Amino acid sequence: MDDRREGTEPGCAEEGPALSPDEERLLDELGISGAARRLFLGQAAAGGLGLLALAMLAKEEAAFAAVVASPGSVAAPPVPLENAVRVTLKINGATRTLEVDSRTVLLDALRERLELTGTKKGCDQGQCGACTVLVDGRRVLSCLTLAATLDGREVTTIEGLAKGDQLHPMQAAFIRHDAFQCGYCTPGQICSAVALLAEARRGEASHVTEDVSSGTTRLTDDEIRERMSGNLCRCGAYPGIVAAVQEVHSGKQAARTWRYADPQELARVRREDADEAV
Ligand code: FES
Ligand code: FES
Repeated sequence: MDDRREGTEPGCAEEGPALSPDEERLLDELGISGAARRLFLGQAAAGGLGLLALAMLAKEEAAFAAVVASPGSVAAPPVPLENAVRVTLKINGATRTLEVDSRTVLLDALRERLELTGTKKGCDQGQCGACTVLVDGRRVLSCLTLAATLDGREVTTIEGLAKGDQLHPMQAAFIRHDAFQCGYCTPGQICSAVALLAEARRGEASHVTEDVSSGTTRLTDDEIRERMSGNLCRCGAYPGIVAAVQEVHSGKQAARTWRYADPQELARVRREDADEAV
């Protein structure tokens, strides 16, 4: 029998199990005390968590604490990491240095350590494209990219595309073409689309390119669909996305295919709805 539980009466959840010195230290590191400590211990006991799990919890907590690296400073986590790596990145034009666990992916470093939450976590396994950002101008899936491999590299996220109040042409085209609904996939779609244009300018062929020997790739709608196929949109905003990318690629502003209803139209629709409901 676990001697740490001696003296704990059945039903005496308030006190919880006695702790070893190591467990005491871990909970101190987590900053869990008082009533929160009793609740945590109750849940840990109910979940059968041992010292190892508590240790992992403490480390996770430390690794993901919201420590923001300001330009020129080193963002160190509150407790030493086991596999700490120092990386310096140029993110959206600013140099940031931070210490990360060697297993931290770029997506988590951006969202949890640098508060750049524009980049979205969808599947977290390289399937949806929601986490797409640019590294040295090329698109990467930040959920599959270790932050530790990017020392000295330049990262551009959706927050870095606009110049002050002036939207990037791709952002403006997405708005003009109504190329999103919930918007969750949109940062990844836009970063992907920006990189796609650069790939075409470099003459990089895709699976549907008919003449791979030609220097410049003219982007047909099929080319755009193929090249954007790694970015999924559960709202099905694909026609607007293709139109937006085509507009920026061609440089010809396409006519907007939608408009806001005017007050008379809104009133008419509401009347018709009310009549149907009767
Ligand atoms: Fe990275 Fe889905 S979150 S591909
Ligand atoms: Fe909703 Fe794409 S706009 S997922």
